[in-house]
Amino acid sequence: MDHDNILVLDSIGKKFGDIVALENVDLSIRRGEVHVVCGENGAGKSTLMNILVGIHSADGGKIFFNGKETKIRDPLAAGAMGIGMVHQHFTLVPSMSVAENLFLGHHLLRFGIFSDHRTMVERADILIDTYSFALDPEAIVSSLSVGQRQRVEILKALVFDAELLILDEPTAVLTPPEVEELLKVITNLRDRGRTVLFITHKLREVKAVSDRVTILRRGKNISTHITKTVTENDIARDMVGRDVFLTGRQGQDHGMRTFGESVLQLENVSITNSSGRLLLDNIDLDVRAGEVLGVAGVDGNGQTELAEAIAGLIPIQAGAIRLDGTDITHVSVAGRQEVGLGFVPEDRLDRGLSSNMSVAENMAATNYLREGILRRGFVDKDQLTEFTQKGIEQFDIRGAKPDLAVASLSGGNMQKVVLAREFAREPKALLVSQPTRGLDIGASEFVYSEILSAADKGNGILLISSELSEIFALADRIAVIYSGCIMQVLTREDADEETIGILMNGGKEHAA
Ligand SMILES: Nc1ncnc2c1ncn2[C@@H]1O[C@H](COP(=O)(O)OP(=O)(O)O)[C@@H](O)[C@H]1O
Ligand SMILES: [Mg+2]
Repeated sequence: MDHDNILVLDSIGKKFGDIVALENVDLSIRRGEVHVVCGENGAGKSTLMNILVGIHSADGGKIFFNGKETKIRDPLAAGAMGIGMVHQHFTLVPSMSVAENLFLGHHLLRFGIFSDHRTMVERADILIDTYSFALDPEAIVSSLSVGQRQRVEILKALVFDAELLILDEPTAVLTPPEVEELLKVITNLRDRGRTVLFITHKLREVKAVSDRVTILRRGKNISTHITKTVTENDIARDMVGRDVFLTGRQGQDHGMRTFGESVLQLENVSITNSSGRLLLDNIDLDVRAGEVLGVAGVDGNGQTELAEAIAGLIPIQAGAIRLDGTDITHVSVAGRQEVGLGFVPEDRLDRGLSSNMSVAENMAATNYLREGILRRGFVDKDQLTEFTQKGIEQFDIRGAKPDLAVASLSGGNMQKVVLAREFAREPKALLVSQPTRGLDIGASEFVYSEILSAADKGNGILLISSELSEIFALADRIAVIYSGCIMQVLTREDADEETIGILMNGGKEHAA
């Protein structure tokens, strides 16, 4: 055995009932490397990591840690061996302090009472300093931001001096600046001699931080590469099993594109919340037929309010909204849909679906008339099934059948139901908010091509996204939103990542 490897997995298998989650997975992790494991949703990444920390036991195969074959019974045993894991979901106790959370279950904290408060806070401080995290050990966790909570989770995994730290999709819940911070943390951990197993399916993150990358697809190890020697396209191909194009219109001559009349206009739109704070400040936007107008910005700068105001879900206090020449400022949600507005909400599960209805009923909801599903007041069942089946195939909605309850689908697949429905309507103006959040790259590619082909058909698209790569792939013009204001609207030719990044931070060079 190669002593350079801290961890070697030999032919790991795992089934859940009939589902083969992992099949003969071999994997070697070198001491001191950052190794990314990536793959689409359901590829088996979390299952593999859960086996490593003893949450699941493998059906077959061997695990060697530091050269010795090992059985890992439970997370405590894994921790004692030197394997720490930061889970996809948070495990902190919100009502407790940072220090208390760090030492929960540790001898410094007995029966929920500090055996020695001062020692505990000191130990927490040392740990926080070691990794240069800006955290107050006595702060109550519920008062922390998502990014700060995650740092506490990471420290918690390091309390027992983990040699190998596993991070399961830690960036899924973070804003872009928090992601940047986390990537620095990961590099810092490696510089301090830790080995990091980092799970993600974001290609940019793979390239930014890893030494090697292993790709899982449908429970199998497809390939392991030295990150420097592979392109994002190579990784995407191994993840999906075919070529994937996420470049959109990048590299095309945007100056050649022409657009029609304005289909969606916002004029001096302002929203104030109940305590008098301006959430949207005098917004002017204008989406033309055939155009994708991207709204870039860090989450929480008014994007949700902007989308909900346009959709008619919340009232505006000042200004006007026009759709295809009609003033819709005071028109209902359904009325706006009739005039020609399509809406893919950011929170597709809450806002976009009726969870007690079937896939077909959900998919047809805004399409009954258009698709000839409703005839003389009756639903044409065959037509409905055919329409739904088409959407299921086009959007690769896994596990879906027309009659199935939509709530039985996985989150990503529920999102695809909303996307399939709204794209089928070919609305004059389509408002899409974070359209690929939570989706696989295979599904993202399809959504990209649907957005671009809707624009090519002459629909006007307002794309709200906090993924800069998405904005750059799709948008003809880019508006940057910060603190409820549109900072600037740039044409695609005039926009570069640095300029947009600075505007996203309110015009300042560095994030606060
Ligand atoms: N506890 C479980 N019970 C049944 N099936 C599971 C369980 N955990 C995972 N699976 C299934 O195993 C497969 C791999 O899942 P998972 O490891 O969570 O994938 P990933 O983390 O790559 O998205 C999926 O088909 C998933 O539905
Ligand atoms: Mg997972």
